[in-house]
Parts: sequence; C-alpha cells; structure tokens
Amino acid sequence: MADTANPGTPPAGPETTGHEWDGIAEYNNPLPRWWLYGLYATIIWAFGYWIAYPAWPLVSGYTGGLLGYSQRATVLGEVAAVRRERDARGQAQLASAAVAEIRADPALLRLALATGKAAFGDNCAGCHGSAATGRQGYPNLQDDEWLWGGTAEAIERTIRFGARSGHGEAHVGDMPAFGRDGILTRAEVEAVASYVLSLSGKPGVAGAKPDKGAEVFAGNCAGCHGEAGKGNPEMGAPNLSDAIWLYGSAPEQVVATVTNGRKGVMPAWEGRLDPATIKSLAVYVHSLGGGK
Ligand code: HEC
Ligand code: HEC
Repeated sequence: MADTANPGTPPAGPETTGHEWDGIAEYNNPLPRWWLYGLYATIIWAFGYWIAYPAWPLVSGYTGGLLGYSQRATVLGEVAAVRRERDARGQAQLASAAVAEIRADPALLRLALATGKAAFGDNCAGCHGSAATGRQGYPNLQDDEWLWGGTAEAIERTIRFGARSGHGEAHVGDMPAFGRDGILTRAEVEAVASYVLSLSGKPGVAGAKPDKGAEVFAGNCAGCHGEAGKGNPEMGAPNLSDAIWLYGSAPEQVVATVTNGRKGVMPAWEGRLDPATIKSLAVYVHSLGGGK
C-alpha cells in the first residue's frame, strides 16, 4: 500500500507489526504528519494554558495562572452589577411610589423594611433607641399610642417635617406653661395633675383636690386633650387616660409638665434624607407593631 503521507516514497514492502488475525496482517505505517503535528500543538497549548490560567490544585488553593483569571470572580462581579442595577431601580420605585403602594407590593415592602431598618439605626436610634422603644421625652414607636397619628401616611409626614422643628410644615402646637406663666396657681396645677393621674387610676399629689382638678381640666386642658383626656393627634396632645407616659407618671413629673410645658422637638428629615429613605422609614416604623 502507498504511503499516503509521503506520496514520493515507493511502497517499502509490507512492513508489518507482526500481528495477524485470521490472515489479516497489521501494517506498521508511521502516523500521519498532520495528526502528529496536531498532537505536538496540543501539548504546547497545554503548557501555555497551565502557565496562563488556573490549572493545578495545590494542598490549599491552586496555581492561579499569569492572567489572574477567575470564573468565580467574574460571576461575582456580574452578580454585583445586576444587584446594583436592581437596587437603583428599587430605590427609584420607592421614591416614586406612595407608602400605601409600597406596603401593597411584597417586593417593594421587603426592600423598604430593609432600607428603613438600616436608616433608623443611622439616624433615629440616638433619640428613639435602637429598638425604637424611646425613653423619657422621646416617644416609643413600638406602641400604639401616637402623638401625631399612627397611619403610615401620618408617620411619613412626621418624619418629613418633624414636630416644632422649625420647618414650615412641621407639626406645631405647644402646651402652655400653665404654672410658670401664671395661668394656674400652684394649687390648681397640683389639683389638675392629680385629676389627670386619676384618669388612669394613679395616685395624685398628696393633699390635692382632684374634684377641683376636673373643673380646671375642662376649662384649660380639654380643648387639646379632649373632654375625657383621650388626646388629639391634630394637636400632638397625648392621651392622658392610658398607662403610657412620655414625660413620666410620678406626681412631681406631671406637675412639672403642667407647670412648664414640654415642647419636644422632632427634627425634620426632608432634605437630609432622600424620599426613598423617608418612605422606607415610615413603612418600617409603621411595621413595628403599633401602626394604625
Ligand atoms: C433629636 C432627637 C430625635 C431624633 C434624631 C429623631 N426623633 Fe423622632 N421624635 C423626637 C421627639 C422629641 C418626638 C416627640 C415630638 C413631640 O413631642 O411631639 C419624636 C416623634 C417622632 C414620631 C411621632 C411619634 C408619635 O407618637 O406620633 C415619629 C414617627 C418619629 N419621631 C420618627 C423618627 C424617625 C423615623 C427618626 C429618624 C429619621 C427620628 N424620629 C429621629 C426626637 C427625635
Ligand atoms: C395647646 C394644647 C394643649 C393644652 C391647652 C394642654 N396641653 Fe397638655 N400637652 C399638649 C401637647 C402638645 C403635649 C405633648 C408634650 C410636648 O409638648 O411635647 C402635652 C402633654 C401633656 C402631658 C404629658 C403626657 C405624657 O405622656 O407625659 C400632660 C400630663 C398634659 N399635657 C397635661 C395637660 C393639662 C393638665 C393641661 C391643662 C392644664 C394641658 N395639658 C393643656 C398640648 C396641650
């Protein structure tokens, strides 16, 4: 048979490998050159690949290769890019949706709660506590008593403009300093404080007259706190007939409140936090348990 790789060579006689099966002998022809060169090329390629790319496992890790290529890093980079884009889209959606729409959309709600929780820790926890339970003078945002209303919309408004914050649209309404400004006598202050405490079954100032206090209350306090002392969110006037006290329920604390007023200041966040963050905070605070 002619040597196909070297057509010029005459047939060198049937050199065989010596194997024979049923009279069929196996020629010992050299491998075709194209095949051989292909094999050498793949060996050289393999060496190049080992040097350039991650190749050999080591006891810990692997040979990294000169190109520093890592599929894992590439995938992580792509995932991060997608996440960044989705976050930007989510923030834009939060900024344009109303709080009611955010609460109705499970995906947006999840994003808002996460955003709100983080922003609360950064901006609000200093006054309201990291668990939003408040302390004297700083309302508990977990309970269901609200100075300025507990719907998500009312909470959003309070966060945007604040209370007595100096912002043009802030909640205003100050309780007068009845004692300091001479509107009521000391005895009247003690009487009305005792009356207020009696609404939630607490002891009043020793020796004061709660009956007299009821009269003083109707004339001076009911306009803001309501006839029965149930409070009024239009005025930021708290419910005085429950067990929740912003400034304390000891008789001397209540006397101090009525004597001097309080004027708690909640800062305005509009302009300091972006709209998406403010809405997220409103949704988060509303979700804490006391939302109406
Ligand atoms: C400098 C202290 C301070 C910081 C910071 C602060 N608050 Fe307040 N916040 C107050 C005070 C004081 C009040 C009560 C205002 C009043 O007496 O009317 C209040 C009231 C509120 C209310 C209304 C509660 C109610 O019963 O109606 C909400 C809601 C609220 N804050 C949310 C926030 C959020 C959200 C943040 C963070 C972005 C924040 N606050 C940061 C001091 C603060
Ligand atoms: C102009 C409206 C207004 C009038 C009138 C008013 N209050 Fe208030 N009161 C408020 C507001 C607003 C607060 C919230 C405290 C603040 O200023 O931060 C408050 C708070 C209080 C508190 C504190 C409650 C707490 O949870 O610690 C007591 C007690 C109180 N008022 C009693 C009275 C009594 C008694 C009178 C009448 C002698 C009276 N108030 C009249 C608006 C009013």
